[in-house]
Amino acid sequence: MSNKANITPDDILRFLEHEKEVYGPFSVSIPAEKTEHTETNLSSEKEPEQPKPVSPSPAPPLSPSPQTLEDRLAACTTLEGLRSLCEEAEELKTDLENTRLVFGVGNPEADLMLIGEAPGEQEDIQGEPFVGAAGQLLNKILNAINFEREDVYIANILKHRPPGNRNPNPDERIRSLPYLLRQVDLIRPKVILCLGKVSGTTLLKAEEPLRNLRGQFYPFRDAQLTVTYHPAALLRNSQWKRPTWEDVQKVRKKYDELGGKP
Ligand code: URA
Ligand code: URA
Repeated sequence: MSNKANITPDDILRFLEHEKEVYGPFSVSIPAEKTEHTETNLSSEKEPEQPKPVSPSPAPPLSPSPQTLEDRLAACTTLEGLRSLCEEAEELKTDLENTRLVFGVGNPEADLMLIGEAPGEQEDIQGEPFVGAAGQLLNKILNAINFEREDVYIANILKHRPPGNRNPNPDERIRSLPYLLRQVDLIRPKVILCLGKVSGTTLLKAEEPLRNLRGQFYPFRDAQLTVTYHPAALLRNSQWKRPTWEDVQKVRKKYDELGGKP
């Protein structure tokens, strides 16, 4: 009671000014008839001649210094550390509820990294990329160019399943990309193969049809990146098998030229 009586209008004003400094201009205006100190005169108010001891004590600093996502990603020096960060990251989720993180799988030292689009139903259930029908075909494609699935690293643009397997929307891709790029930088592959249009256009930041992107290598981080058809697309359109075969042979050649692990 007596404490309350000691709070002067100047104290309130100082408090409000502090709030304004910390949180920015008020988004609600203070009704003029309830107080003579409106938002406009807050900033023009002169310092009192006799500054009184601040009461109550100055506001405590805001929560522990906010770390940027960039800082938190840079602090991940292992894939396991990055996986833990991804487990906590709400921004990696889609609007499908209760999906599982599909972080990535394979050899952490891989010289070839494959990047698909987003987990599907089987991937969500098993927590591993490319384990459904498209994954079976991907394994065959890898075998055809003398890789075992275990030799390479496999990830997706999105780490959570979108509802109904719809294409990841631009916002989801933008939110997931920094995590994927950190993953790429931790693995440091020599060659990156993007599977399908979503993967290729997201990483190359080029909204081009897949047929314009494929068949060439692009410098990307410390790697050479190329794009081919998505295995799920091959299951529907067998006319893309031939160009895919050509693309993956180029991948094998580039991998060997760059001294990829035998
Ligand atoms: N399709 C993808 O793009 N990624 C998977 O992990 C599975 C299917
Ligand atoms: N269009 C796509 O979106 N993906 C493919 O793999 C091929 C065509």
